[in-house]
Amino acid sequence: MVDINQIIRAIDHAGTLDELESLRIRHLGKSGDISALMKQLGTMSPEDRKTFGPLFNGYQRQANDALAARKAALESAAIEARLAAERIDLSLPAPERPRGSVHPISQVMDELAEIFADMGFAVATGPEIEDDWHNFTALNMPESHPARAMHDTFYFPDRNAQGREMLLRTHTSPVQIRAMLGVTKEHPAGAPLRIIAPGRVYRSDSDATHTPMFHQIEGLVIDRDIHLGHLKWTLETFLKAFFEREDIVLRLRPSYFPFTEPSVEVDVGYTLVNGKRVVGGAEGWMEVLGSGMVNRRVIAAGGLDPDEWQGFAFGTGVDRLAMLKYGMDDLRAFFDGDGRWLSHYGFAALDMPTLSGGVGTAA
Ligand code: PHE
Repeated sequence: MVDINQIIRAIDHAGTLDELESLRIRHLGKSGDISALMKQLGTMSPEDRKTFGPLFNGYQRQANDALAARKAALESAAIEARLAAERIDLSLPAPERPRGSVHPISQVMDELAEIFADMGFAVATGPEIEDDWHNFTALNMPESHPARAMHDTFYFPDRNAQGREMLLRTHTSPVQIRAMLGVTKEHPAGAPLRIIAPGRVYRSDSDATHTPMFHQIEGLVIDRDIHLGHLKWTLETFLKAFFEREDIVLRLRPSYFPFTEPSVEVDVGYTLVNGKRVVGGAEGWMEVLGSGMVNRRVIAAGGLDPDEWQGFAFGTGVDRLAMLKYGMDDLRAFFDGDGRWLSHYGFAALDMPTLSGGVGTAA
């Protein structure tokens, strides 16, 4: 006999779709037991058929309903299981500590901008691909000038539309001209003027202390009644703030640059600490800067009247300043991109140099 309750119970407890399918075949398939009951109806007397017809139809409907319900339940469980199994976590875990650091050159440039901003200097920029007029001629180095040859210049094969030779700037001094002429976007033409110009410069030279690309910072002040005393005070104030010591001693030596007259080379005193030169005191001297009063011809090339305006200019190597302050001894490592060097000498990204917080918080 068919026990419908038992069949329903078996269907409700089927654990897989396969198991459910075999239950369907066993009870409702062609040779299933409920199907067999239905077939018997045909052989019954009309009275019996009246009694058993609704009963067997009921079995068939109940079994079908139970199968459909269980099938839906098993299918949605299967989808849930698949969703759980195929889940992909697209988020990356945060690194244990922040990676990446600020390169010492960027750090030192930020420090310099901060120090000079405090003295009223604005930052000016010029192109790294220059023409020989801005890089040389306007700086009182006409074509035949021997100083041109000393710059180990990288030239481009073609001249520009004005017929000027094109080159990679050999120093940041062309920004002096651009600032006076007002062609830098930061500064309109004219004077008075107080700018610094940090940036990349290029010379065909390479050893432990020279790389074909390096960084300079230029300073230019143009105003009335400017003299060497202003230059000396500015450099002393800057170097004290940069090296964060009061015992900075400067020595100004007469020198020669075509674009300054008079020209002075500036040495800073150092002390030997464990055989290493540390800036401060005056046990020995190191050259750190080129500078001087801006040559009248340069002021004129900048479109200003040299009888009305005077000024001073200075230029120095940013890489060398970084090496002196933070103790690296091979310049080439600055540009190797070695992760170990960068994590050792780099600076935390959020440690912006400020005068109040200290311009050179070590990493
Ligand atoms: N431009 C010079 C150099 O590259 C440095 C300098 C700048 C000297 C400004 C005097 C005035 O060596």
